[in-house]
This record gives sequence, C-alpha cells and structure tokens, in this order.
Amino acid sequence: MILTPYNCGLSGDNTLSITTAIGDIGRWEGQEVRVRGWLYNKREKGRLQFLIVRDGTGYLQAVAFQPDVPGAVFEECQKATQESSLDVTGTVRKDARAPGGFEMSLKSVTIHQLAHGYPISPKEHGPDFLLDHRHLWLRSSKQHALLRIRSEVSQAIRDFFHERGFVLIDSPILTPAACEGTSTLFETDYFGDKAYLSQSGQLYLEPACMAFGKVYCFGPTFRAEKSKTRRHLTEFWMVEPEVAYAGLPEILDLAEDFVVALVGRALERCRDDLKTLERDVTRLERVRKPFPRMTYDDAAALLTRPEVVERAKAQDAPPFRPGDDLGGFDETVLTEPLDRPVMVTHYPAAIKAFYMQPDPARPDRALCVDVLAPEGYGEIIGGSQRIHDHDLLLARLEEHHLPVKAFQWYLDIRKYGSVPHGGFGMGIERFVAWIAGIHHLRETIPYPRTLNRLYP
Ligand code: 4AD
Ligand code: MG
Repeated sequence: MILTPYNCGLSGDNTLSITTAIGDIGRWEGQEVRVRGWLYNKREKGRLQFLIVRDGTGYLQAVAFQPDVPGAVFEECQKATQESSLDVTGTVRKDARAPGGFEMSLKSVTIHQLAHGYPISPKEHGPDFLLDHRHLWLRSSKQHALLRIRSEVSQAIRDFFHERGFVLIDSPILTPAACEGTSTLFETDYFGDKAYLSQSGQLYLEPACMAFGKVYCFGPTFRAEKSKTRRHLTEFWMVEPEVAYAGLPEILDLAEDFVVALVGRALERCRDDLKTLERDVTRLERVRKPFPRMTYDDAAALLTRPEVVERAKAQDAPPFRPGDDLGGFDETVLTEPLDRPVMVTHYPAAIKAFYMQPDPARPDRALCVDVLAPEGYGEIIGGSQRIHDHDLLLARLEEHHLPVKAFQWYLDIRKYGSVPHGGFGMGIERFVAWIAGIHHLRETIPYPRTLNRLYP
C-alpha cells in the first residue's frame, strides 16, 4: 500500500527532495527524502540529536550529527519542542534497531510552528485530564493504535457485508418513536413536535430487507444511559444487518461468520497496532468456529450453582436469579473457561425488546441471541428473529405501552407479504475494546460521550 503519493518539495536548504510518508520510507533506502510531521520526542547526546518524528503513518528517528550538519541546522534541532510541526530531510538508512527498521541521517530541518508547553507529557496523567485533552491525546501512540484498529474494523465491516450482497441502508437519526425501550431516549424538539435520537436502525431495516433481501446499516446510535460503567457510552456506532426469510439459526451463523471475519482481519492488518497495545494475540488467534451455543436456561443453571453463588457474594456482584438479565459478573462466568465468544439464546421474552419472535415451543422465551466475548468483555452483539405476525406485534406494542400510531408503518410490513426475518446489532466500540484488550470503552471512539462528558 502506498501511503502518500510521493511528490517533490523544497527542503530546508532549498534543494529538491522526494516527500514520503514514514510508512513508505523503506522504498527510499540510500536516497534523500523529506518527511513532514510533528516532533514526537527528542534525545540529545553530546554532538548527536535524535528527533523522533511522527506523521500519522509511523515514527522515524532522524539523527543529526555535528559536524556532519552545519551549526545552524543543529541549533534548529535543539530548538524543536514536543509536537512542533516540522519537515526533516536526509538520507534513509536501514537500521534493524529502529522502529520500522529505518533511520534518517538528517541533513536539514524546517520548523513550521514551534509548540509551547504541550500539555501531554510522557509522565502519567489521570483519565479526566487526558479526556479533557482528547483533541491532543489522539496523537499519543496508544490512542493512535486504538483508533487505527477501529478504522480497520469499520472498513472490514463494510467489506464483509458488501461482499455478501447486503445493501447498505442508512437509517435515520431523528425518529418519532423508541426502538429499544423508552428509558434511554434522548428527546429533542422537532419544530414543535417531539423527536428522539435513534437507539438502533433496526426498525427501519426491517422494511428495507423486504425490499432488498439482505441489508445493513452502520451509523451512530444514542442512548441516554445513566449508568457510569466502562461498557456504556451515550453515543456509539452500531452495525446492524437484517435478513428476510431468516430465522434464529441463520442469524446465529451470520453473527459467528461476522465475528470470525473481523477478528481475522484485525490479526491480519493490525499487527503493529496490537503490538503497541501489548495485546496477547494468541487469545485472538483461537477465535474460530464454531462458537459454543447455550440457552438462557443452561446459563441460568450454571449461574445458580452453589460455587458460583459464593463467588458472586465474595465479589459483591448482584446475585443472579432465574428470570433476570445477565450482569457483568454472570457474563464473565459464562465465558471465562472459553477462548471464543459464547452465544446465549432464548432469553425470557419479558426482559427483551417488544419485537422479538417468541419460541413456538415455549412462548415465554424469545428467539434471540446475545454474543458474549471472552476475557470478561461481555455482550458485543444482540439480535433476534422478529415478530412477523401483525396481530401478535400489535399486542406486544400495546403491552409495552408504545404509541401504536407512531408504529403504523412498522406494522404495515406485517400486512404486505410478511415473512420471518431477523438480524443483530454490534456496537463497534465493544468489539474494538475486546480486540485491543483495553478496559474502558471511552478510548475506542475518537470523541467519547458519556453521562458526564460532552467536551471536547
Ligand atoms: O442489544 P442491543 O440493545 O440491540 C439492539 O439495539 C437491536 N435493535 C440490534 C438489532 O437486532 N438490530 O444493542 C446491540 C449492541 C450491544 O450488543 C452492544 O454491542 C452495543 O449495541 N451497545 C452499546 N455500546 C456502547 N454503549 C452502549 N450504551 C451500548 N448499548 C448497546
Ligand atoms: Mg443487548
């Protein structure tokens, strides 16, 4: 991959040099090139200056040695401060010890803007300080690696569905009604009427799958989550496929293929970033098909075993009672002995969304799935088969006290050629946190939004 179309530019001493991205530097071994970037770090040792320059594609050590460089150039190197924008020009040398395998023997330097008092230093800062400086924190190597993984995963998601014939249907963000329950809606004024920020594109995908067969959406979703957990954002990006003529078994297979493909892509293309994050990739390499599948009742039996109950008590985790939704502790217990995600199906309908198809063999259970990631990462995917019978759906809307009038269009889909269909949703921040092996979701999105953060 060519990272920058190389071009020519004047370097500090007015000679013409090739400009290259650091990621491409190996193509220019033995030649003189110019690199444009920012000063990441600097070391000085007698008559040597080591400038670590970053340009977004990598890190390059440019070495200035006096008397090889004129005094003025050496002084310019001394002047450069952390995060000053600059060009360095010099000869590319192979060096096995250098990050990326190459170094530059510096010939000239041009400082574009001298940065004064860059607030983020290599010393430890608290999370609040760093989040207040998110606009700058993006430049730090760990954050940089994380967001590159996110970018690769986003592209892999689009490729996965595009290659399988899914049509991208962008769902609206301003909506007249709730999808995932009314308690986490952001309300806004819409020319005197109420509108809500979308919690999920699903309701809009269901009609679209009746038009196109296989569709997906991938965009921002909003939940007014009052919880301050490490796994909740108020704005996150969700990818949602929806398939006509699909029941729960087809949805499970799709989710499994999807996760395997994304993990494979991250391992294939994000090795350096995973290394920066010190991720133990051997655990990701074990993510293969088939994923273990268990019903909610199997899970409940496991979670009510005396030894598990004791452990929950010791860890101050809320006790699990059959009928409850699974909590963080419960999800960890179910996944910890395994090195791949677990698919938990057939939850009690009472604790799930109104649109889920009941199991014909046991109507108090829903034909649904939560995919739980290993290593304590918990739910990454939620999905289900949808109710396709008009009257049953109408009854469910009423039971959930949802405004039937606002759902007429959604009910229409059950009037004109209704078929079983289903899909799932995955929040990419949860997925990226797992892949990258980081604790808190807030670092997996460029500008996190949480209960107490709307800045910057
Ligand atoms: O399980 P959820 O609520 O399912 C839905 O929204 C369905 N309508 C999806 C569908 O079937 N089309 O959310 C799906 C996923 C979760 O598994 C999780 O990955 C993510 O969205 N998610 C969140 N991510 C970050 N912060 C939050 N507050 C999240 N809530 C859900
Ligand atoms: Mg869920």
